[in-house]
Amino acid sequence: MTGVLRLESLSKSFGGVAAVRSLSMEVEEGLIWGLIGPNGAGKTTVFNLVSGAVRPDGGRVIFRGRDITALAPHRIVKLGMARTFQNIRLFHNLSCLENVCIPMLQAEGPLRSLLGFGGRDVRRKAMDLLDRVGLADMWDRGAGTLPYGLQRKLEIARALASGPRLLLLDEPAAGMNPEESRRLGDFITQVRQAFGLTVILIEHHMDVIMRICHRVTVMNFGSILFQGTPSEVLGSRDVMEAYMGRRRWAVGA
Ligand SMILES: Nc1ncnc2c1ncn2[C@@H]1O[C@H](COP(=O)(O)OP(=O)(O)OP(=O)(O)O)[C@@H](O)[C@H]1O
Ligand SMILES: [Mg+2]
Repeated sequence: MTGVLRLESLSKSFGGVAAVRSLSMEVEEGLIWGLIGPNGAGKTTVFNLVSGAVRPDGGRVIFRGRDITALAPHRIVKLGMARTFQNIRLFHNLSCLENVCIPMLQAEGPLRSLLGFGGRDVRRKAMDLLDRVGLADMWDRGAGTLPYGLQRKLEIARALASGPRLLLLDEPAAGMNPEESRRLGDFITQVRQAFGLTVILIEHHMDVIMRICHRVTVMNFGSILFQGTPSEVLGSRDVMEAYMGRRRWAVGA
């Protein structure tokens, strides 16, 4: 298998805090890859570095064979990467359809959008996407009126709107009960299959990680503590000790 994403000695400090310390890893194409670790381990910072939101102090990010370390976020999206955020970022007053149309129009480029080209086409593609993720019935509902679990789904649909190959999900099951998080896990598996994606999943719900991830990287204090299959992770003493007393480890987090 080839690596779709490679991090080479990636580092980032905020003031005196080393959030990510010379981190190197390679994510294989087509897998669901878990990224876990105690609160403050540096997981979201890794997503920020990979997606271009934050510049690293050192190291490189290689995406599909190309060095993207210095690229702006919108360029990285164009190359086939999309992400969601730890806190839901939807346009609450707009409909589900509009929420999905916006990133599609952005992907078309500002000039075409300004001139109004492709509007109908985008609307059709957005409806098609909502249909594929099971939100077609909700197309005209205000995003803010959806139940929480569906808002999380809509966020993923928005990320899919730019046609990514790699999807970064930052705690998509946060605040969900075990049944909701199980269903979201199934949804992520289906989406990965249907859209032919690689997924990197930050998640505190260990039951979701165990059920759907092929490989897991465990971070602690900005570095990799362990890497392996979900069951190897569960069997690791180092991982258990890192988590002990420091975090929410599992259901209901
Ligand atoms: N923009 C920032 N400014 C200052 N410090 C930051 C910034 N972003 C992250 N940090 C610090 O870097 C460290 C890693 O934070 P990060 O958000 O990456 O952790 P995390 O693993 O995602 O944690 P959580 O599980 O709580 O979301 C923390 O100490 C955090 O306070
Ligand atoms: Mg985080």
